[in-house]
Amino acid sequence: DKAGHRHFMAKEIAEQPAVLAEAIRHYLPADEDAVRLPGAGLDFSGVQRLTLVACGTAYYACLTAKYWFEKLARIPVEVDIASEFRYREPPLPAGTVALFVSQSGETADTLAALRYCRGKADRIVSVVNVPESSIARESDLALPIHAGVEIGVASTKAFTCQLAVLLILALKAAADRGEMTPEALSDHISALRGLPHLMNTALEADDEIRDAAQQLSSARDVLFLGRGLMFPLALEGALKLKEISYIHAEAYASGELKHGPIALIDSMMPVVVMAPKDALFDKTVSNMQEVMAREGKVMLISNPAGLAAAGDGVWLSIAMPDVQDAVAPILYAVPAQLLAYHTAVAKGTDVDQPRNLAKSVTVE
Ligand code: M6R
Repeated sequence: DKAGHRHFMAKEIAEQPAVLAEAIRHYLPADEDAVRLPGAGLDFSGVQRLTLVACGTAYYACLTAKYWFEKLARIPVEVDIASEFRYREPPLPAGTVALFVSQSGETADTLAALRYCRGKADRIVSVVNVPESSIARESDLALPIHAGVEIGVASTKAFTCQLAVLLILALKAAADRGEMTPEALSDHISALRGLPHLMNTALEADDEIRDAAQQLSSARDVLFLGRGLMFPLALEGALKLKEISYIHAEAYASGELKHGPIALIDSMMPVVVMAPKDALFDKTVSNMQEVMAREGKVMLISNPAGLAAAGDGVWLSIAMPDVQDAVAPILYAVPAQLLAYHTAVAKGTDVDQPRNLAKSVTVE
């Protein structure tokens, strides 16, 4: 049932405020500023290292989580693609917690990577959408994301719920390790609690994004740029676009632009820049100006202050509401998803069942 939407993907994008509120409610009890994990939980105080493993969109959720765990909880983090991890046979030093992220909980490579870690990692934790899945069952601790059934092949609500659970876990880690003051913890918790509401505001940019997508739909190649927490999101934006619109899209960390990809820039290559006005904003803007100086067409996704400071001369701009830095990637996932969705609709591709793809990749 598409609940009045044209595609399951549109329905699942629109459901995000509600499912995020649900995910947050499960981990952040309403009456206190603390994190509650199911079952025996997990104490991060003795954890030496985290290894995060996943595929596709779930892998980009892990890349985002690396920034959170390192910056907020000061835990060294390694992130890997499951199909690489499993055959590289990496050593896992004592004190390693292995964490697997998977919507379906049945992805063959992620499951094989989990089995490799059995007996080698201190704890095996998973962040899953399907609680009865193989990955959930074979973990010491399974953390459900409460996104509800996701039908569209392109993952949307599962991604933002994965991010929310991973951020909550990083906050728990920061608190367990004494790396965060109670005030900072409650600031982050309020930012998370405020997210579903902000996401509704982000969804209101739908018409604007549909118009932008109309223009994007004639491009052959698109480049996505972001720094810090916006870099994994740039990767996710590019994956979404290529999956459902079949437009070739790539993402780079903004700082990498001059190390090669700037050679691609001309008036035919739209560049999507995701940059809320945060501590790294000026650096991203200078990369954006390098693109514009070469006739590159920039689509800037930012908050009002960011658009006021750097929106002059850009090709298209999309406004997002102001948001606390740590939760920004969860909010900015919305325009990335809508952009891919409307571009695919403009091109007339099969949004929910893109060619050559399966919802769950249970073979290698
Ligand atoms: O079920 P999983 O989360 O393990 O799936 C991982 C990837 O196959 C999945 O995220 C894929 O990249 C999606 N089609 C992305 O939209």
